[in-house]
Amino acid sequence: MQLEMSRDLRIADFQQLLGDTLPDGCHQAIAQNVFKHRPLHGTDREDVFLRVLKALDSPLESAGRHRHHRWESGWTENLEDFIASEYDVRALVPKFVKRGEVIRFRGEYVLPTNPYFETSFVTVLRRFLFQKWFANVEHIFEFGCGTAHNLVEAANMFPDKALHGLDWTESSLKIISLLKQQLDIRIDSAMFDMLKPDAGQRLPSSSGVLTIGALEQLGTQFEPFLEYLVAQAPEVCVHVETLYEEYSQNDLFDYVAARYIEKRGYLRGFLPALRNLESAGDIKIEAVKRTFGSLYHDGYSFLVWRPATVRSTT
Ligand SMILES: C[S@@+](CC[C@H](N)C(=O)[O-])C[C@H]1O[C@@H](n2cnc3c(N)ncnc32)[C@H](O)[C@@H]1O
Repeated sequence: MQLEMSRDLRIADFQQLLGDTLPDGCHQAIAQNVFKHRPLHGTDREDVFLRVLKALDSPLESAGRHRHHRWESGWTENLEDFIASEYDVRALVPKFVKRGEVIRFRGEYVLPTNPYFETSFVTVLRRFLFQKWFANVEHIFEFGCGTAHNLVEAANMFPDKALHGLDWTESSLKIISLLKQQLDIRIDSAMFDMLKPDAGQRLPSSSGVLTIGALEQLGTQFEPFLEYLVAQAPEVCVHVETLYEEYSQNDLFDYVAARYIEKRGYLRGFLPALRNLESAGDIKIEAVKRTFGSLYHDGYSFLVWRPATVRSTT
């Protein structure tokens, strides 16, 4: 085992990573959380690669419609915890967010000292993205919103915006209705299947669209949803998603992440599809950035784009 001094993340590190100055909310989150971590070297690093390779050789379930019941039961567990905790929003953190786990960061596996590193990092990332891209829209629509914990953050930041949570599970909608009833956090909800988007679900003018780890679940079947978004022409779309095409096939650290995406049937082809739309003059891509990831892939990369012509409907 080779030990290295732990590193920390400060405001300047986040600014460099996110490519811009940070709003006050990020400064607060950085001051209130611990971002110390230690890069893994030698046998520690090899052990992580071995774990990842063994996972790749194991029968992993791929994403798709057949997993609908898994999401329903996963969010039902969060719903039950939320009720049992007497409506503590911390019970809304998804259970796939593992505490104390190895993180992918800047091309290395690192071990954080703070078991809540992933959640803390996501808090900074969300505040940054929401402030930068949603400050001027009146509506925020999160597709595949799960427990709606991202929208709870948006509600804290923007008490006057209309928030909308959409998902294909009943349990997600039940959580959202409890947020309103018990905590007076007002989020509209609707059933929505991104594999079969309902054009009747209109986005009013001045809307921002958010997905976090939701397009991931569409694999290569994202076209109907992309067509829906282009037709609805919101002001801006912000996706925090794994970006398959950003992984280098010639770098071991990236290579295993790309193999993991293939094995799980996660999002592929979305960025090239957007680049095609941009070449045709239909959209403009505003940002593409890798930030960090949990053990297997960089699920917190972000991608921001806008339709070239924003439709004005009400
Ligand atoms: C990885 S979770 C992310 C949830 C939430 N965005 C978050 O950040 O915690 C993926 C979400 O996408 C939803 N989902 C998967 N496939 C979907 C589909 N075809 N239509 C709508 N929602 C879907 C799941 O129910 C789940 O809520």
